[in-house]
Amino acid sequence: MCGIIGYVGTGNTADILMRSLKLLEYRGYDSSGVAFCSGKSMEVFKCPDRVSVLEDLVKGHGENAKSGIGHTRWATHGSVSFKNSHPHQAGKVTLVHNGIIENYKELIQTYHIENRLLSTGDSEVAAVLLDEHYKGDPYAAISETVELLQGTYALVMMFSDRPDEIYAIRKVSPIVVSEQENGKLLASDLNALSTVCREYFVLPEKTILKMSLSELSLKDLSGKDIKPEYEQMDFGFEDLDKKGHPFYMEKEIAEEGTALRRCLASYAADGLPSFEDEGLDHGFFCRHKHIVICACGTSYHAGLLSKRIFEKYAGISTEVYLSSEFIYERPLMEEDSVLVVISQSGETIDTLEALRCGRKEGKESLAIVNVKGSSIAREADHVLYMEAGPEIAVASTKAYTCQLAILYLLAFAFAKETKQDGEDIAKLIEEMRKAPDLIEAVYEERETYHDLAKRLKDQKSVFMIGRSLDYYILMEAALKMKEISYIHCEAYASGELKHGPIALIEKDTPVIACLSQKDLLAKESSNIKEVRARGAKVFCFIKESIRKDFVQKVEVFALKDLPDDLMVFSAIPVFQLLAYYLAIEKGVSVDKPRNLAKVVTVE
Ligand code: M6R
Repeated sequence: MCGIIGYVGTGNTADILMRSLKLLEYRGYDSSGVAFCSGKSMEVFKCPDRVSVLEDLVKGHGENAKSGIGHTRWATHGSVSFKNSHPHQAGKVTLVHNGIIENYKELIQTYHIENRLLSTGDSEVAAVLLDEHYKGDPYAAISETVELLQGTYALVMMFSDRPDEIYAIRKVSPIVVSEQENGKLLASDLNALSTVCREYFVLPEKTILKMSLSELSLKDLSGKDIKPEYEQMDFGFEDLDKKGHPFYMEKEIAEEGTALRRCLASYAADGLPSFEDEGLDHGFFCRHKHIVICACGTSYHAGLLSKRIFEKYAGISTEVYLSSEFIYERPLMEEDSVLVVISQSGETIDTLEALRCGRKEGKESLAIVNVKGSSIAREADHVLYMEAGPEIAVASTKAYTCQLAILYLLAFAFAKETKQDGEDIAKLIEEMRKAPDLIEAVYEERETYHDLAKRLKDQKSVFMIGRSLDYYILMEAALKMKEISYIHCEAYASGELKHGPIALIEKDTPVIACLSQKDLLAKESSNIKEVRARGAKVFCFIKESIRKDFVQKVEVFALKDLPDDLMVFSAIPVFQLLAYYLAIEKGVSVDKPRNLAKVVTVE
């Protein structure tokens, strides 16, 4: 959460900062700001608003500056206001911060700096302490200041008596750095660098980065020089273009088939799962008898559904935890458990903490991650990349499909390596290969869901009901609907209705039922009757091949046929499109829903 940026060079600093901030805005959009260093003077522009508003304020400034820093905020401590917007200034220091300084209140008291603070948040405390420690040597001031900070931080700093020098340091919160012909750029993530660079490095933790017109250097806190480890970028700015789609979310749903094809091609060879290139050999699959999965949000929903698949096909017991709860639950993990963490961004702090917790206990870990080089990818023992391509919309779509594909293939690999079940698995993988085409066909029929969205847009609350795998599919569908259309929506296991939730059903309550599992037709049909008897208006999404056996007078939408266990692949794009069109119809911000951010780096 929060995006930070710093540039030193001979390019148009204002343009570079604004373009990069736009690419980082998905990390948070409560406020935005930049500071330019023009000779000895520092110009600061900020507003409690989006980057497009900041852009108007900045017009005509900063083009000739040789350096500048910028910030786009997701509010944690302190309200959304001008004074809480970054950059913060204190004496000679101008600073932007991503993370949370947990002990900021104690620091204010200990160092008696109340009177120097204008904001009500934690970040300005770092700026003031840095200024208090600054006696002309940035390294000494930064080292002394970060020793005092508890929590997480990526700090980017300028000192007014050191024009065109930028310093940065981080703990947990990410910073990536690149050098190009006309300058040096640092940012919270690679998206901001994608316009200009092909090579980058991740700033190691607790290492001071200095960027000036002539220098790019790293030193650890004892002053020792550190060599940056460069890596290649595997995507470019063109991948971040909306390519004619009005919103990233639509583009990403449209790309879902291609993403899934790429993912399947990466992890299934000759019709069987293949993870040897990633270091998951026969030994890996044989030495683990239990799986513990940790993830948040959409990634958690993929994990929940996969439990059924791991247990059914591989006979391997699987527990799924919300990362944020894992550290409290501290489940008794067996010696032969593997910890699997799932994260699109690879930066979700709750999942990172769960990973660290499991590793501390000596558990082997496997990360399923989309963003290459992210913190979770770097810290896990093994990494499987989703190959979904950049996902920018806050609502996760194509990453979910790719996460699931990897989880299915992993389950099949466990089955193959431990039970020699090659034939059945090959058949299922063959069926999975049909999914990308079906997903694309769903996208082509998107107007059907647009029409439904037009009719549902004024609802305050929608129920979703389903059994078994359908229940997990609907959990994800309900999350999509909540987060981007702001319609209250809950998924219920149909059998649980009569234990409480059915009390909420009244005349015309909209209920979306998902029926993708042939064997559940009779039971689910009864549940649909139960809610209809209480006046509910039911919309039934049913697997095409069993549609003829469903004879109730409700509105029916067909889900394209795959084997029951794979139906999630054809059902989920339908619900993603429905949520998308609800947001469109309500006229709310599709890609940047209120109060949310794409990368969640606060606990
Ligand atoms: O990057 P991650 O997969 O770790 O993110 C986890 C959740 O924050 C994320 O899935 C969130 O729930 C999405 N906004 C859902 O669309």
